Amino acid sequence: MAMTPPNLGGGWLGKYGKGRTVSRAFLMGEGFTSDDMDGRPIIGICNSWSELNNCNYHLRDVAEAVKRGVWQAGGLPLEFPVISLGETFMSPTTMMFRNLMAMDVEEMIRAQPLDGVVLLSSCDKTTPAMIMGAASANLPAILVTGGPSLSGRYRGRDVGTTDYTKMDAELRAGLVTDEEMMEFESGYKRSVGHCEVMGTASTMTSLAEAMGLCLTGSANIPAVDARRYRTAEASGRQIIELVKRGIKPSDIITRESLENAIRVSMAIGGSTNAVIHLVAYAGRLGIDLPLSLFDHISRTTPFIVNVKPSGEFMMNEMFEAGGVPAVMKEIESLLHRDCLTVTTKTIGENLADATGSRDHEVIRPLANPLNNEGGTAILHGNLAPFGAVIKQTAASPHLLVHRGPAVVFNSNDELHAALHSDDYDMDPNAVIVQRYQGPLGYPGMPETGGGVAVPNKLIRRGIRDIVRITDARMSGTAFGTTVLHVSPEAAAGGPLAAVRDGDIIALNVPERTLNVLISDEEMQSRLKEWRSPVPSNVRGYHWLYLNHVLQAHEGCDFDFARANGQMVDDLSGGTGVPPTGTESRGAE
Ligand code: FES
Repeated sequence: MAMTPPNLGGGWLGKYGKGRTVSRAFLMGEGFTSDDMDGRPIIGICNSWSELNNCNYHLRDVAEAVKRGVWQAGGLPLEFPVISLGETFMSPTTMMFRNLMAMDVEEMIRAQPLDGVVLLSSCDKTTPAMIMGAASANLPAILVTGGPSLSGRYRGRDVGTTDYTKMDAELRAGLVTDEEMMEFESGYKRSVGHCEVMGTASTMTSLAEAMGLCLTGSANIPAVDARRYRTAEASGRQIIELVKRGIKPSDIITRESLENAIRVSMAIGGSTNAVIHLVAYAGRLGIDLPLSLFDHISRTTPFIVNVKPSGEFMMNEMFEAGGVPAVMKEIESLLHRDCLTVTTKTIGENLADATGSRDHEVIRPLANPLNNEGGTAILHGNLAPFGAVIKQTAASPHLLVHRGPAVVFNSNDELHAALHSDDYDMDPNAVIVQRYQGPLGYPGMPETGGGVAVPNKLIRRGIRDIVRITDARMSGTAFGTTVLHVSPEAAAGGPLAAVRDGDIIALNVPERTLNVLISDEEMQSRLKEWRSPVPSNVRGYHWLYLNHVLQAHEGCDFDFARANGQMVDDLSGGTGVPPTGTESRGAE
């Protein structure tokens, strides 16, 4: 563990008379004085604030609270912007830009005269990007999250993004009117902050706390709660302590703390996107985190948090029930207790003062879980040689073991045209294959696997769910029996590309299998005819992305950004497409 105190604040600015005149003079041009540059630690406040990102909109105010704390503890706070990824505004998908933001974070931390950094994030991809960049820069860092927005209100009940997904499907089927939808819209988002259910944002901030990257009990404080500003101020003070002790992200993000994060993800019914992001964190520090580990931990971790989309309540109720510390207290016997955290104490020491759940309806005791297993299961089979993911707690129980004929869609537009048509019919036992939605295919592996994929005709007959298999992701707020992250993806020549209408697909979640019932010879013969749809005539970031993004089971990071990165150009011939049927690089 690296605990050597760094050269506080002197690295670049130095003291008066020791050079760096231009740097010092330019800060003085902002109104700072020589007294502010007296050798004290310089703390960057890495801010993903944006008006195009409601989830992160308030982070400018949060930064002011962080600055108070940094000044109180004797540091010099300097705020700087990085890219912000607003889930609802960006196209083709924020996931395509997660790695760009991680590069921005890493390089801006590395390039500037900082002793430590406070990371401000909120919306889905902004927390993973901050952590990936900070892990690679490996300067003392602490995360301050934006917190969930107020729960929405509709006709006397709490609603959130999960409810929107259901309303949207019912609007499409004519079961909800435009007027009702507009009424819903007006009360759905009542404040800034990230989604108010256990979506990807809530999952990734909760897991950041579970890993020890933010102050205990801070991750789930609602966005507009004054306690969010108090914890931001405390984080400003705490970063100085981390700098003095030389505690870096690599001291905190370890195989054991990642296992704790997986454990907590299973207990909270966390988003399937956590699998991709945690694997990416591990890759940044050269830690092996195979998908098999997720499944092992899932089978041995009870699901105890009753929050949408897998449960009934909202994030503010989880916070009132004790938040992440209460969850960790309930499952403490399953955790690595000696992992170091940004409090400078271990997980076990942090939990010594924590109480368990304050509301057993929201956070169940370990002895009375909602499900004996965790939310996420990992599947393998001839359709997913390198793995696929299903959120079993958000799936329909009667579909977890299922066989049915494939109905294949090669694009999201094709799928939605069918679903939105009042005339389109489908066998209710059918298995929808939604392909070319992966990292290379879409591109950017969007969340098109989420939502309700049931034709209008079937919705009106009361059918609310159909098995879906896709190489896309799914929003953490969504639900349904959807097998996601099929790897390798169809656009990389994975077996999903070989499926044809009418092939029988066999899903068995308890046995963790996913197969198409055709022979190996037939599969190989079909794949021989397959041609890559990935364009080669692209430029700029799109080119960089297509040539270097890894597959889902490898965290969708760039090959060159991992600790032991190996570029893929030599494997793909510069087209960005790994050879058919082979793992692109690295091992699961
Ligand atoms: Fe930002 Fe849901 S849209 S967290």
